[in-house]
Amino acid sequence: MTPVLELADAAVRYRGAAGDVVREVSFAVEPGQSLALVGESGAGKTTLLRLLSGLVRPTEGAVRFDGEPLAPRDRRQMRRFRRGVQVVFQDPYSSLDPRRRVAAIVAEPLRSLGIDSRASAAPKVAAALERVGLPADAAARYPHEFSGGQRQRIAIARAIVCDPRVLLADEPVSALDVTTRVKVVELLAELKEERRMTMVMVSHDLSVVASLCERTAVLERGRIVEQGPTEQVLSNPAHPYTRRLIDSVPRLPA
Ligand SMILES: Nc1ncnc2c1ncn2[C@@H]1O[C@H](COP(=O)(O)OP(=O)(O)O)[C@@H](O)[C@H]1O
Ligand SMILES: [Mg+2]
Repeated sequence: MTPVLELADAAVRYRGAAGDVVREVSFAVEPGQSLALVGESGAGKTTLLRLLSGLVRPTEGAVRFDGEPLAPRDRRQMRRFRRGVQVVFQDPYSSLDPRRRVAAIVAEPLRSLGIDSRASAAPKVAAALERVGLPADAAARYPHEFSGGQRQRIAIARAIVCDPRVLLADEPVSALDVTTRVKVVELLAELKEERRMTMVMVSHDLSVVASLCERTAVLERGRIVEQGPTEQVLSNPAHPYTRRLIDSVPRLPA
């Protein structure tokens, strides 16, 4: 099967930075697969997610979508990409525009892709809000009226409203307290199952990874030091860095 998303020897160097933040990174995400990217803070996890979401371009190597290099000037490809690949960011406070009502926030992908008018988006927005467990009247309210967990549900509703094939999530539950975290992880697991959605998730919480992702890639200072089935990587790591990462987590996956 052609991978949905693929990095081939990718490197990123931010403007003005002395060196590459990530380098020689290669992995492929097959349709329906879920991949976790783990590593310490600063390892380059968010940068890899930005690469996969087209927000950052590789300074070397390639990002491929359905086997084709991502070409920001290819409007047809970009349209397919934007519809097919949606992102949930880490911080549900900064990722939602405080001046817009939830209805407009969640409808944004449908509107900007030209799929729907405001009127024809409304039932899809309502269905997405219901699916993530928010009350119907949430649509008319503003982000500040919601808790962190509810805001992340709004962000997830926005990400699934156009029925994407791929969900990219950057530490989607790190900003949440423990009980809320468990519920949002459950929601993501359900969505993955029922929509057979491909997922790439960044997390430093290995218990989240263990429950959600079939495969895990371990990132140390911008390089992937090992990747494989999550169970194998976590129970029998091949690389000493992975061992240290596992040992540094107080709560081991059951
Ligand atoms: N926009 C940027 N400009 C310059 N350096 C950046 C930028 N974003 C991240 N970095 C640097 O790149 C490295 C990796 O960051 P990041 O990808 O956010 O790691 P992680 O998500 O694993 O914590 C860090 O050293 C960070 O300071
Ligand atoms: Mg990060």
